[in-house]
Amino acid sequence: MTKTHIDVSEFQNRRHRILAQMPVNSIALFPAAKEVTRSRDTEFLFCQEKDFFYLSGFHEPDALLVLIKGDDADTASDVAANSDANECILFCRDKDPQAEVWHGRRVGPEVAQSEFGLEHAYGLSELEQVLPLYLNGRDALYFAQGQFKEFDDMVFAILDILRNGVKQGFTAPVSMHDTRPMLAEMRLIKSDAELAIMRSANEISGNAHQRAMTFCQPGKFEYQVEAEILHEFASNGARTAAYGSIVGGGENATILHYTDNQDVLLDGELLLIDAGAELCGYAADITRTFPVGGTFSAEQAALYNLVLESQLAAIETIKPGSNFAIANEAANNVLTRGLHRLGILKGSIETLLEENACKQYFIHGLGHWLGLDVHDVGDYHMDENRRQLRPFEPGMVMTIEPGLYIDADADVDERYKGIGIRIEDNILVTENGHENLTVNAPKTIADIESLMAKR
Ligand code: GLY
Ligand code: MN
Ligand code: MN
Repeated sequence: MTKTHIDVSEFQNRRHRILAQMPVNSIALFPAAKEVTRSRDTEFLFCQEKDFFYLSGFHEPDALLVLIKGDDADTASDVAANSDANECILFCRDKDPQAEVWHGRRVGPEVAQSEFGLEHAYGLSELEQVLPLYLNGRDALYFAQGQFKEFDDMVFAILDILRNGVKQGFTAPVSMHDTRPMLAEMRLIKSDAELAIMRSANEISGNAHQRAMTFCQPGKFEYQVEAEILHEFASNGARTAAYGSIVGGGENATILHYTDNQDVLLDGELLLIDAGAELCGYAADITRTFPVGGTFSAEQAALYNLVLESQLAAIETIKPGSNFAIANEAANNVLTRGLHRLGILKGSIETLLEENACKQYFIHGLGHWLGLDVHDVGDYHMDENRRQLRPFEPGMVMTIEPGLYIDADADVDERYKGIGIRIEDNILVTENGHENLTVNAPKTIADIESLMAKR
């Protein structure tokens, strides 16, 4: 397995890149996530806020990262972002032996400062007293307003105190900016260290899909297949899935976000699995569709090969300068022609192509950015009118996931009804084209059937 951590210097560098974009005498606040109650006194497995994690690498809840752009820094150069006038500060949970016996170890401010490469670190017990001092006198404030209500309330309460404290010499920032667009742009282009993790997340997830194929038998339940997948993730260091796994047999495969995963699997049906591991915060997002009994019927094979051909055509277009519209056109072209050939779409092929008629059965987008979030941040457009799609650049990672969903009520030949198929891979844009990160989850009919024949 490749490297699965990111050096502290990379987190420092990311913070410096943010500082380089901030005006002098400004402050940026990045709150960590809080634990979320599941029921009464139990919590969901903790998931860190991704922008906070991207800049800090810190994994505990309740923390706050503060970046200060000092007023004697020369903003003209990136080097200025390393100026002594700039500071990266973390507020984190205080050490508390009693609480740690019950709820687990805490890093504590002292260790956090040295291990996470920060200028200062404070315990949360000092937040109320210290944060207003950092905010006082700044010209501009950066934070993701609306993200956490409680945090908004705290910030606005401090601003009120500063605004009402002119006599004491306080001043509050007069301009407010959103941190999210800066982070989205940075997160969109992955570093080598991030890509190493994403390759590993894909490898683990691909193995999980293989395991599902070899485990699956008529009579098994969807949740039993899900359990195999989660076991493969967790036993390889990815303790959790990046999103709720979709394990849908038969008609359940036509429900895009089916996560009940409770039905029995029947011979003759297809099973659609959309499942990806989260590794060190990074998501894989892979879908495979295969026959429960190990062999595709003629109708299933015809539709499956159509989806596969459209996926390969879309992936083929991915290179620097290309965009989602070009990839979409390639996929839609194959799907529309194929559905017409099978008699599922009727009429003139020219009109069908013009109207993108395949979208009747391919009812979602072709793909999305992938990274710390499964539907990752990053603007899909490059102009103010939101019309022009941004060209692909090396370092971007996206999914390509065409599908066909023909529900029981569809106006088609009986033999195609109730079939849902999606094939989803994770694609990196490289200098010369692309790299498919999803290398070990079988997807040709021959590879799937031969793996399943070994069960
Ligand atoms: N797994 C969610 C998606 O494919 O977008
Ligand atoms: Mn996806
Ligand atoms: Mn998916």
